[in-house]
Amino acid sequence: MPSLYVHVPFCARKCGYCAFYSEASGPELMGRYVRALVRELERVAAELRPRTVFFGGGTPTLLSLLHWEEVLKAMERLGLLGAAEWTVECNPATLSLDKARLLRSGGVNRISMGVQSLNQPLLERLGRIHSRAMVFKSYDILRQAGFENVNLDLMFAIPGQTLEVWRQTLDEALAMGSEHLSSYEVIYEEDTPLYAQLKAGQFSVDEDLACAMYDELVERASEAGFEQYEVANFARRSLACQHNVNYWRAGSFAGLGPSATSYVRGVRTKNWSNTRLYCELIEGGKRAVETREELPPLARAGEAAAFGLRMVAGWPFEEFRRRTGHDLRREWAGDMDQLVDQGWGRLNPHSFQLTRVGLRFADAAAQLFLR
Ligand SMILES: C[S@@+](CC[C@H](N)C(=O)[O-])C[C@H]1O[C@@H](n2cnc3c(N)ncnc32)[C@H](O)[C@@H]1O
Ligand code: SF4
Repeated sequence: MPSLYVHVPFCARKCGYCAFYSEASGPELMGRYVRALVRELERVAAELRPRTVFFGGGTPTLLSLLHWEEVLKAMERLGLLGAAEWTVECNPATLSLDKARLLRSGGVNRISMGVQSLNQPLLERLGRIHSRAMVFKSYDILRQAGFENVNLDLMFAIPGQTLEVWRQTLDEALAMGSEHLSSYEVIYEEDTPLYAQLKAGQFSVDEDLACAMYDELVERASEAGFEQYEVANFARRSLACQHNVNYWRAGSFAGLGPSATSYVRGVRTKNWSNTRLYCELIEGGKRAVETREELPPLARAGEAAAFGLRMVAGWPFEEFRRRTGHDLRREWAGDMDQLVDQGWGRLNPHSFQLTRVGLRFADAAAQLFLR
């Protein structure tokens, strides 16, 4: 299995827009989770030789130094070190120099930091626990600890965010000099406070403004020396996130921890989104799987087509055939023609890719390919 994902289901406080499975909790549950995670790692270690490892969340950097030592020791004992790329997600309010150094010395070589905005009132509006000053401080800490591959996460089309405020955040973030930038338009996820506010009519969504913000993002990132390689992802020095590229190219991956998904040979399993239940099951020697879904080959290929089109390079026909056993030009010819007619797609001699407008509406374009 080329990729390992570990979900850390804790946050100091939930942000108003976020639907990732995580909760605020004390050191007791965190300790119990770490012990369960080590057991889950032990169970799958023999099948893993990961080229990429990604600890996401939640907020992995909320785990204490002692917890991280336990995790790193287990990874070493189980022969799981040595991945070419090992990312840990971090919230700027949860990083100390000691923790950054511990992670770096344990083999972590990429940090993804949730910034979202560099406008103080918007950070508060989003329910973030950190100030804008903390973003710069944590970034310096990461560099001091020796991290040479840092991603910054930004969000745009935040309620109350003007084009001018977005430009300021973008320019300041680009000037920080990170190797990677991920920038997503706000998604209104059900069961979040932000969604409830939208439904209550406290603000409305301005699609034209969101489009203008996306254009600004693509232009300014390119001017700053970033190459866009996916709808929302930009890299300098060819440092695209290999872990995510594996997802978009329909590669296999193992996912551990509550709510994590695994995808192996067309079978998708998902762990329970309940940390206590997850711990109970693992402690009892059981697997923590809630659902298992086996996709028929054509449906699997359709998903691969949909995911892979998020990449700026689109799908080289030969690579698609090699990975899925299906021919994009046969099964999906009509869908590709439709996208070309709409101005959303471009048919090249050896590949199909979305245009810049198409990338803006990649989710809608991708729907066509599902079978
Ligand atoms: C798990 S978080 C990153 C690490 C850490 N938990 C933090 O927030 O600082 C993953 C990223 O997903 C993005 N995200 C989460 N919810 C979102 C939403 N509803 N719409 C758009 N982006 C979202 C944010 O940019 C966030 O940084
Ligand atoms: S955005 Fe990050 S810090 Fe905020 S609730 Fe989601 S996972 Fe936690």
